[in-house]
Amino acid sequence: MKIGGSVATRKDEPFSLRIPVLRSIARQLRVAIEEGAGIGVVLGGGSYGHVVAHAYRGSGAPASEALSAVTASMLELALAVSDILAGEGLRPVVYPPHAFCAPRGLRPGCSWRQVAEALELGAVPLVYGDAYPCGGDWCIVSGDELAVEMACSLGAEYVVYLSDVDGVIGSDGSVIPVLRLSDAALEAAPVERRGYDVTGGMLRKIEAVRENQCPGLRGVWVLNGLAGDDRLLRLLRGERVVSTLIIP
Ligand SMILES: Nc1ncnc2c1ncn2[C@@H]1O[C@H](COP(=O)(O)OP(=O)(O)OP(=O)(O)O)[C@@H](O)[C@H]1O
Ligand SMILES: [Mg+2]
Repeated sequence: MKIGGSVATRKDEPFSLRIPVLRSIARQLRVAIEEGAGIGVVLGGGSYGHVVAHAYRGSGAPASEALSAVTASMLELALAVSDILAGEGLRPVVYPPHAFCAPRGLRPGCSWRQVAEALELGAVPLVYGDAYPCGGDWCIVSGDELAVEMACSLGAEYVVYLSDVDGVIGSDGSVIPVLRLSDAALEAAPVERRGYDVTGGMLRKIEAVRENQCPGLRGVWVLNGLAGDDRLLRLLRGERVVSTLIIP
């Protein structure tokens, strides 16, 4: 499950956590895990990594300085969220992606074996969008991609993207219940005919799914993490809630 930066943080205010939202997510995850679910967590950059990366990109600062600052900001976010999860009875274990991933394009290329073992113990592995050294510079590995690769590597059937929208929104303003990746590939079709216009952060998610999908992956849910109700738990229990199911 990816907790988007728009859910875990206030994107317009640097280094601001949404603590009550994270506690509510943690409580719902704890119930789902008690009921038998296995869950790995991925964090997006939000007002931590995105803000720091943006400040350094094109600043002329040495790559080492940017790499150090961006990785530190995301580790800080991960530790803060890890504290909140632990406070609600989960057993998070933080894995810094810059230490076990070797990205190529939109594929994170992480070594997931240790993470899988932690999951088998009943822990909740926690990874996050991160920076890493690449060809004499620094690059970003996004949580959107990590979520799909993690799910595929750990044998999960579903990914959940918790974000600040009710799902993928169509051109009429309503949530598209089911989106087949094969339809999403119809880039040539005019917007009116495909019924949606996917850009920005949502487009990145669809591309992350397309690039990292695997045969065992049955679907990717886009769900609102800011709705203030228990829809995450209901979704994890197999109920149909307001959301989009992306079918790879
Ligand atoms: N068709 C669409 N349906 C829904 N959202 C869309 C659509 N097209 C673009 N978006 C944008 O995608 C955003 C969600 O992605 P965004 O990357 O901002 O959030 P996130 O993944 O939760 O945050 P982070 O990248 O920090 O982890 C929405 O807030 C919306 O502005
Ligand atoms: Mg995003």
